[in-house]
Amino acid sequence: MKKLVDRVKKVVSPVLGRYFADFEVDRGQGCYLFGSDGKKYLDFSSGIASCSTGHAHPKVVAAAQKQLKKLIHICIGVALYEPYIALAEKLRAIVPIKNAQFFFCQSGSEAIEAAIKLAKYATKKPGLIAIRGAFHGRTLGALSLTTSKMKYRDGYEPLLPNVFIAEPDLKEIGKILRTKKIAGIIVEPVLGEGGYIIFPKVFIKGLRRLCNKYKALLIFDEVQTGIGRTGKWFAAEHFGVKPDIICLAKGIASGFPLGGIAASAKTMKKWSPGAHGSTFGGNPVCCAAAIATIDVIKQQKLLQNSAKLGGYLKKQLLKLKAKYSAIKDVRGLGLMIGVDFGDPTFVKQIMDYCLAQGLVLISTGGGGAVIRLVPPLIVSKQEIDKALKIIEQALNNA
Ligand SMILES: Cc1ncc(COP(=O)(O)O)c(C=O)c1O
Repeated sequence: MKKLVDRVKKVVSPVLGRYFADFEVDRGQGCYLFGSDGKKYLDFSSGIASCSTGHAHPKVVAAAQKQLKKLIHICIGVALYEPYIALAEKLRAIVPIKNAQFFFCQSGSEAIEAAIKLAKYATKKPGLIAIRGAFHGRTLGALSLTTSKMKYRDGYEPLLPNVFIAEPDLKEIGKILRTKKIAGIIVEPVLGEGGYIIFPKVFIKGLRRLCNKYKALLIFDEVQTGIGRTGKWFAAEHFGVKPDIICLAKGIASGFPLGGIAASAKTMKKWSPGAHGSTFGGNPVCCAAAIATIDVIKQQKLLQNSAKLGGYLKKQLLKLKAKYSAIKDVRGLGLMIGVDFGDPTFVKQIMDYCLAQGLVLISTGGGGAVIRLVPPLIVSKQEIDKALKIIEQALNNA
């Protein structure tokens, strides 16, 4: 059989970007990937911050297998089924929104689409404010709010009307709210694809105040930061702010395709039956995997692990920063850490070296100048030390 890298060119659209030219994976287990080259790789990408409980966690696999045999699909519009409702009940106990209700979909972008639609529908206002440098997804609504790389938008304009891209500046945002009819402000509390930049608490709190004043909804895109990634269930908790809508996806189901939004029953009440929907959203197998993911995070104390080992990883990376001038900044919360080199070519060199040494790292930031470390939340100190050793070797080799 020909290598995947030779077969892909013929049958897969070239539109898909890839971090590595010829990295092929056969299977994953825990924090490790097993390449088709027979090599074992320590995975600090988690399939872009998604495999929260690691690859093929036995409890997630068991829950999904059990559900597979029972019911694969019916659509929540056709019949109610246990995992959809049970997941909503589980999430209700952990989201920082009082009396939350849920709508489930299949991806982060779709969660953003749902939030856009709910905000417009509930407030009866047309406008949206997004923050410059944010990434909210690639579907046309989500893309209209995305400016982390302008390349994403090239060729697709015009996008949604009444979208205002603002600098993270409360005065500027206040002026837009004063002069336009704004349904909601959407913000990633920590910029993901924008380079792992943490917004100051005063800014996030200021957004809450402005939304209250102008009766706009505050939408937190926690697609990347949610479900324990930052050491708390939701990044909102770091800022002491309660959003009106939370968008979820990525880590929620340990790699199964699931997204969703949370909003209070008071807000959801304004969304009329049939005003939104989805055939596959909240698929029974994906919901079963999400329920198991939340249980595993609780049972294995993964929030604590994310906070503690994330703190350790950041501290060690700051030590490397003091030693290697190539590192310009180290930042992040929990196990969502960015190492800013300010140079995409250098970053690519480090990533390639690390991959050859058995460590999977991926980049982020406008031009890809930041390496992001997003291992599964089950990562151990030994695995972090192993990754740090390889990164230091790469720095010495560069
Ligand atoms: C913060 C954020 N929002 C939305 C998305 C879009 O999610 P998806 O790729 O599942 O559509 C992403 C994906 O990287 C993201 O990081």
